Amino acid sequence: MKKKLVFATNNLHKLQEITKIAGKDFEIVSLSDINCHDDIPETADTLEGNALQKAHYIKEQYGYDCFADDTGLEVEALDNAPGVYSARYAGSGHDAEANMNKLLSEMQGKKNRKARFRTVIALILDEKEYLFDGIIKGDIIEEKKGSAGFGYDPIFMPEGYTQTFAELGDEIKNNISHRALAVNKLVSFLSNLSE
Ligand code: IMP
Repeated sequence: MKKKLVFATNNLHKLQEITKIAGKDFEIVSLSDINCHDDIPETADTLEGNALQKAHYIKEQYGYDCFADDTGLEVEALDNAPGVYSARYAGSGHDAEANMNKLLSEMQGKKNRKARFRTVIALILDEKEYLFDGIIKGDIIEEKKGSAGFGYDPIFMPEGYTQTFAELGDEIKNNISHRALAVNKLVSFLSNLSE
């Protein structure tokens, strides 16, 4: 029988992405599949802390083994801001345009444009916890370019490319992204367990 694992998300895109890879050995379900409509707390000040907080919440409240992710954009010249606060950098509205505008204005005149996206996945399985991360390095460009993707994609140009994530499009992005790298680590860990 397949082992049931809850992915602490209601983002269908993320769910499909991971089910495609891990679905043959694990039954991966979302929060709505377990009837969880709670506003899960994310009050830690690190990506690791938030991912663990979300995974523990599900284990404690619902009893399922679980994994959760958290992602941030870390900009070198801004002491790694916005980092864990990426979603609400310009305020609580989770407004991607406002977040990018704020970042571009903080970066005005800065020569060092280096940044990285970092995803952390926390897994709780059989009473143990595990962390997996994925990092992609790149640069913050000076103005928005492209319309694919979401969040900070129009101002992030991954290393080795001459276009932003928003210009490269989902297919290329999903092969090289921070999230894909972290998910691949999780999936290879899970597949080794089920062999
Ligand atoms: P989450 O942890 O996946 O919800 O990501 C937190 C925030 O980081 C999002 O609201 C976005 O602002 C930003 N972010 C996460 N992943 C990406 C990405 O792949 N491209 C651009 N922005 C992202």
